[in-house]
Amino acid sequence: MTTPVIRVGVIGAGFVGSALVGLLLDASRRDALEDAATAALEVVAVAVRDVAKSRPGIPPALLTDDAASLAASADIDVLVEVAGGLTLARSYIEAALSRGVSVVTANKALMAERGTALARLGHEHGADLFYEAAVGGAVPILRALRTSLAGERIERVMGIVNGTTNFILSQMTSEGSDYAPALAEAQTRGYAEADPTADVEGYDAAAKVLILASLAFGTELRDEQIARQGISGIRAVDVEFARRAGYVIKLLGVAERVGEHGLSRRVHPAMVPADHPLAAVHGAMNAVFVEGATSGPLMWLGEGAGGAPTATAVLGDVLDAARNRVSGRHDVPFMVDDTLERVPAGDLASVFYISLDVADEPGVLASVASVFGRHRVSIQSMEQFGVGNEARLSFVTHRALTRDVDATIEELATVESVDSIGACIRVIDGGNS
Ligand code: NDP
Ligand code: HSE
Repeated sequence: MTTPVIRVGVIGAGFVGSALVGLLLDASRRDALEDAATAALEVVAVAVRDVAKSRPGIPPALLTDDAASLAASADIDVLVEVAGGLTLARSYIEAALSRGVSVVTANKALMAERGTALARLGHEHGADLFYEAAVGGAVPILRALRTSLAGERIERVMGIVNGTTNFILSQMTSEGSDYAPALAEAQTRGYAEADPTADVEGYDAAAKVLILASLAFGTELRDEQIARQGISGIRAVDVEFARRAGYVIKLLGVAERVGEHGLSRRVHPAMVPADHPLAAVHGAMNAVFVEGATSGPLMWLGEGAGGAPTATAVLGDVLDAARNRVSGRHDVPFMVDDTLERVPAGDLASVFYISLDVADEPGVLASVASVFGRHRVSIQSMEQFGVGNEARLSFVTHRALTRDVDATIEELATVESVDSIGACIRVIDGGNS
């Protein structure tokens, strides 16, 4: 029997695309890939912006600068989109899916914005749309939610889903690094997005939370905003305070049921107890906790960013799509049962850490404390550190509603003796997030 051939077109040969092409062209792995795909995989073309750029490991004859023609080509069975961006990437993916060509992408921004509509388009034309690499880099969390946990009632998904920010926070915690050099190092290593604002302000993690929630809770992937706070306001003093108090600061993405009918999805930094498993997730590693009603807690851990780890997830999807092509089937998109009510972040309660720089004068502490009291935020502990005429105040509150804490901070900003407000970070206490 002759071996079927699956023709693969790749758009993008940056950190992820070049690593993927390397894996697909690795002669020592050819038989293993053929077994897994039930077909021989042939890379027919690799589209980039600049064909003149040196690209070790990619035969120049494969390169093209015409991504649109590749996406519309009749000579491909699977299109891999690892270029990034929204508008052009969407047009390439739509061109392929609408002709029945399966698509594999790592584009979390686009999947979060239009994933459900694109998956439906593929379904209508008998094509797969896979995007395992969009969340957690090498960590196969989407497939686990899509298959092994498909019948489970998920209560909560909580994770460290951005490698760049975890790398920066780890460097600040273990090396005492400043924020800027740690970010520059993350960019050099290929962890960061083209615009690192997406990482440090939590947009990238928010896209991943939306994708996780779609599979865990059946929410639609459409253009939606969720509560989001990044790490750019976190200072070395906050990291140091957390360490002394027995915590580690992490950027968490959370999607959880609230009561019977509610859903909260959000991204924010959190002080995680040092003995919590998430506190041990260092560097660009990602980890995702899933709490199922019958499965109990589960956790996945692995390289969450970087070209080579991410390419392994893309390759897994290519093999899946190829197998489906050969057997003449395609995966049905996940169920959308979007009946859960969105619970505003302000309605959720937590313990908070808040730091302020104030003038070191009589009466200042009392005036600051009265603001907390006016907004029903009870102070659990307070630490004062003097620097010349200034004092840094670090508060830990009792559990308080987020909206009351937000109102406290808003009013504190108007108090004359308050020079600046530093961080406001949730503290994970017990099982609460
Ligand atoms: P890079 O910026 O390193 O590479 C992008 C590649 O796409 C480049 O080769 C570029 O060409 C090419 N490209 C961009 N626009 C076009 C276009 N219109 N037509 C043809 N080629 C184009 O990005 P990454 O590899 O880091 O990321 C790619 C995707 O993977 C993004 O969606 C990202 O969010 C996602 N991702 C990245 C991870 C990572 O750790 N890096 C992890 C998980 C997902 P040229 O080389 O000529 O400039
Ligand atoms: N910029 C992303 C991160 C890449 O740092 O996690 C992986 O999605």
